Amino acid sequence: MDTILEVRDLCIQLKSQKDYYNLIEEISFDVKKGEAFGIVGESGCGKSLTAYSIMGLISSPNLKTHKGSIIFENRDLLKMSKSEIQKIRGKDIAMIFQEPMTALDPLFTIGYQLMEALEIHKNLSKDEMKRLSIEILKKVGIPRAEAIIDEYPHQLSGGMLQRVMIGIAMINNPNILVADEPTTALDVTIQAQILSLMNELRSDYGMALIMITHDLGVIAETCDRVAVFYGGHIVEVADVVSLFHKPMHPYTKGLIRSVKTLGDKNQSLYTIPGTVPTIDQMGRGCRFADRCERALSKCKDNKPPLQEYENGHLCRCWLNEEG
Ligand SMILES: Nc1ncnc2c1ncn2[C@@H]1O[C@H](COP(=O)(O)OP(=O)(O)OP(=O)(O)O)[C@@H](O)[C@H]1O
Ligand SMILES: [Mg+2]
Repeated sequence: MDTILEVRDLCIQLKSQKDYYNLIEEISFDVKKGEAFGIVGESGCGKSLTAYSIMGLISSPNLKTHKGSIIFENRDLLKMSKSEIQKIRGKDIAMIFQEPMTALDPLFTIGYQLMEALEIHKNLSKDEMKRLSIEILKKVGIPRAEAIIDEYPHQLSGGMLQRVMIGIAMINNPNILVADEPTTALDVTIQAQILSLMNELRSDYGMALIMITHDLGVIAETCDRVAVFYGGHIVEVADVVSLFHKPMHPYTKGLIRSVKTLGDKNQSLYTIPGTVPTIDQMGRGCRFADRCERALSKCKDNKPPLQEYENGHLCRCWLNEEG
């Protein structure tokens, strides 16, 4: 399959008064045309920073893109000017955010916000934009689409708003959709509906999906391949079947074990001991070493490289080196 997005050696730094800290580093992965690629990891491991980098939305004055490239259609998104990236954002690459309520403007109608997304990238008449807006709302499963376009965000439920967000993201028929925790704020039944809608749209439109979540269940439900993030690093990349059946990294194994014990009344709930290190606690070695039951003496001071072991199965761990 052809590659549509290539992230290489991405590093985002946080500037503090004295020093620079690498919030994410050595982030490299490819997304193939039309595939669903998952990014999974605990809170604070750098999932959203990676998404914002792809969207050209790293704008905080204390953050800087220190290194790396993000290649889309032979061009490096990180080297583009603001106006160049604006032409791509929302059109070729679109994003859905975690909190629909904060991503939509409460002062404007649903229709206005859909048409605004169209207007930036296309030169269409008002009637045509209205027709396309209603069409996309129907496509994302909104009942009474003709009436809803004249309503305001506060008039809709969380699940409906998330459908609207998906509609806004899909309206220009993007090649890549980045979904950052799109169902976290929703209850489980609505969550399942939104995930199946996203699967459906992906196969109908043939777009690639980057699904960001802390939930392995969401990954199992939607993704072809997955990258496991930990402490600003990628620790494992694999197709979903290999990841669940033959996980290599102790962190991935811990994540899967904690899901498996959920719902099994005969087993006490497994949680990985300890917490994610903060940036000032990150040493030179493996970032998971402090929590790893099988850490070797070299793990503390030497950072393992991300290496390919089987076809397309990558892992960052010294244990695999040792056999
Ligand atoms: N503007 C910022 N200034 C300082 N630190 C930041 C900033 N943005 C992100 N960080 C830090 O970078 C790290 C990665 O953040 P990020 O938002 O990417 O995590 P995440 O994996 O998306 O977590 P979550 O699951 O909670 O959304 C965190 O430690 C966070 O505190
Ligand atoms: Mg996040």
